[in-house]
Amino acid sequence: MVASNKAQKPANKTIKEKKDGEKKDGSKANGFYHDETYKTVCCWTANTRIKYVPNPKSGKSRIRYAGYEKAKTVEESLKKGSFPLDLLFDYQTGKLSVLGGEIRKEPIDPSKATTHTDTILSKWYYRAHPAKLQALRDAEKVFEEKSLTKMNLKNQAKALDLSERLGIKLDEFSEGMLSELDAARKVADQEAEKILASAERQRRKISDQDCVKVLRKWAFRKNEARLNVMPEGSSFVHSDTLGLIRCRDGRYMATEPSVLYPNVFTLFNKWVQDQKPSKYQKPFPFTSISVNYAYAAKIHRDQGNHGPSMGAALGNFTGGRLNAWEDDNKSLDLDQLLEVKPKVLDVSKGPTLFDGRRAHSVEPFKGERFSLVFFSAGKYWKAPKKVQDFLKQCKVEFPSDASMEYYMKQTPAAKGYSSEKRKATASISSAKRQRTLASGGA
Ligand SMILES: [Fe+2]
Repeated sequence: MVASNKAQKPANKTIKEKKDGEKKDGSKANGFYHDETYKTVCCWTANTRIKYVPNPKSGKSRIRYAGYEKAKTVEESLKKGSFPLDLLFDYQTGKLSVLGGEIRKEPIDPSKATTHTDTILSKWYYRAHPAKLQALRDAEKVFEEKSLTKMNLKNQAKALDLSERLGIKLDEFSEGMLSELDAARKVADQEAEKILASAERQRRKISDQDCVKVLRKWAFRKNEARLNVMPEGSSFVHSDTLGLIRCRDGRYMATEPSVLYPNVFTLFNKWVQDQKPSKYQKPFPFTSISVNYAYAAKIHRDQGNHGPSMGAALGNFTGGRLNAWEDDNKSLDLDQLLEVKPKVLDVSKGPTLFDGRRAHSVEPFKGERFSLVFFSAGKYWKAPKKVQDFLKQCKVEFPSDASMEYYMKQTPAAKGYSSEKRKATASISSAKRQRTLASGGA
């Protein structure tokens, strides 16, 4: 908002133009009021200073005018009984002039309206932007075809705006995509679809860069539930789970983002098999992925996983290696484990096998860091066939007894930490004893 002291002269002192079409001066008139009138009035604020000429009216409007003619601001005029349309009429016909005060550079967008006056003035926003109104009218046909006409004008406008801003075709729009989160994810999914198709054509592997491209477009949910990994002082982490989850009532299902954005899910699933260390002869079995961004998880043990995980970090960052307490057999609590030196895994080099059921954390890091942790949900074999089929369609390597056994053998049994070993590593500095920050596993 910009404070302006410039006086605005009334747009016209007479009403001689036709109801529609061109005015005498050649400018367009939008119904009774000129486009310019809408634009001007929509830029006003509650504190725009105004002045009325002495009461020139007759009949009922004379009584109403008498109520607000002494008003010194737009807000005051509305409070004293001016109808919103009176503002347009009085301004266009020269009864109201603007002396200065707070005036916007651009008409107020309905979604930005914060005061009662803003709400009133913003209802002509589309009148002040005839091109946007025309685009909205053109879009109506698509909304009708998609049975989205129950969306009110404001939401239709939002859909139109998001589709233009994010490059989503209007006929791909759904009501669920009205939030910026959904819209951004749709864009990420389209990017993933393109990458998958070109990789297929070129018979090439999915690269780290492919994943980063999609991750940068993905909008992360603020996850307030992952208390076990949440760095101290945070109230949420940027974390989503794709693939299989076990609900509290015991049902198994594929998470909503994996169903709504299957190309993103498929891309990550292909990537992990393409990039896993070649020393493993079998595809890595998993059912789910924890997708994380911009946080370093504190020391924790993953709850309810079956078998080992494959974790990797992507992006442009320094630090952020994975601390893995490989011999954690739960005989020590997490605070005690901080006395023991962990094995440090550089997960920026690609997918790395570790057992998320044993304590792990992530070093602090600087920069942009995403992490993908592939794991199997506990008792995954109970998932209904329909859910398993969906996961397999998305290129999930659903665990078999043989594949799970193979990878279980790659992570030797935890030996536990003896008190001698604890003493030997107790020289770790007190700074390092602080609970290290970490991501959703890696
Ligand atoms: Fe974890």
